[in-house]
Amino acid sequence: MAILIDGKKVAKEILENLADETVFMNPVPGLAVIIVGEDAASKIYVNSKKKKAAELGFNSIVVELPENVSQQELLNKIEELNNDDKIDGILVQMPLPEHINKNDVIEKINPLKDVDCFHPYNVGKIASGNKPYVYPCTPKGIIRLLEYYDIEIEGKNTVVVGRSNIVGRPMAQMLLNMNATVTICHSRTKNLGEITKTADILICAAGKANLITEDMVKDGAVVIDVGINRNKDGKLCGDVDFSSVEKKASYITPVPGGVGPMTICSLMVNTIDLHRIQKNI
Ligand code: GUN
Repeated sequence: MAILIDGKKVAKEILENLADETVFMNPVPGLAVIIVGEDAASKIYVNSKKKKAAELGFNSIVVELPENVSQQELLNKIEELNNDDKIDGILVQMPLPEHINKNDVIEKINPLKDVDCFHPYNVGKIASGNKPYVYPCTPKGIIRLLEYYDIEIEGKNTVVVGRSNIVGRPMAQMLLNMNATVTICHSRTKNLGEITKTADILICAAGKANLITEDMVKDGAVVIDVGINRNKDGKLCGDVDFSSVEKKASYITPVPGGVGPMTICSLMVNTIDLHRIQKNI
């Protein structure tokens, strides 16, 4: 039976330590989150980011723009935040409406304020084995979890399922930079199970409920589930068939309570790190 990786507990510990630091900061770190439109899931995520930042005493602002906002208006808003000394980190919640070019938006963010590590300048740093200003929130949270549970990365066979810019791609690059052997799988991968079965560390970020079943996992593997899906009964679930896979894995993350809390935690750490860089402290 696998050991449960308790992201909620680890995130709480990290955030408590952060609160001890930020209480003495003056000026305080500033985080601006921009949300466009009415996507229900995005609204929930943005609210919890705002709440957590406010709890830590940050200057925490949310900019809500209507679904039909023009790209130029959105770019103007980012420019305004780029020039605002009270804002250290800017996050544009994804997905954006179809009429907006996501890449133009990301490239408008000052790389120094790119709290998500989405800007090509920072993405390129990771891809070339250098350090970005801060690492992307979800992969960073996953690495923190592996380190917390003393799970070695170097030399391990790692398989990342999913190639999104938010999780899969940066995750694979970061594991590679930490000397893991990395395989990336995605929706067109043939014989997925044959490949996932080679993983010492399996990271699933495909966004498909029950994609990973017990027969696709090696005995003793570490299984990290990034998926946030709803099953037939409307219950939150990951990409991994938890009840069968937990019998085979050595470590496993639950959904909820695994990777999710670590993502928000990394966002707070990143905001403080960008604050320190910009304010030279
Ligand atoms: N949408 C889903 N996850 C994320 C994230 O980590 N950052 C942003 N900006 N949008 C998201």
